[in-house]
Amino acid sequence: MTDDVRIYVEEAPGQRHEIQAPTDMGLSLMEVMKADGYDIQATCGGMALCGTCHVEVLAGPELPEPSDDELAMLESLPVMTQGSRLSCQIRLHPRMDGLVVRLMPQDA
Ligand code: FES
Repeated sequence: MTDDVRIYVEEAPGQRHEIQAPTDMGLSLMEVMKADGYDIQATCGGMALCGTCHVEVLAGPELPEPSDDELAMLESLPVMTQGSRLSCQIRLHPRMDGLVVRLMPQDA
């Protein structure tokens, strides 16, 4: 029995890259995406302070509500969409299997 989840990163419309990640190590979505080679600076180290781990959730299971700190950071970014989240604030959980996200451009 495994508690790995599959996360899909949409790199272009209709083009999704699958990442399989464990849920028992307390990893954040930012950490697994970074480990998979995605170019995320994460200059704040996952403290919801830099915004460089901004993703848009496109589909999948419902996620826990963002904290006030996360919302404040998202609102300060140049682009915020309905699905905007800071991937460093999303701790992987078995419930999140099938989540689809895309990395938001930093220079938008
Ligand atoms: S890593 Fe800095 S806000 Fe997420």
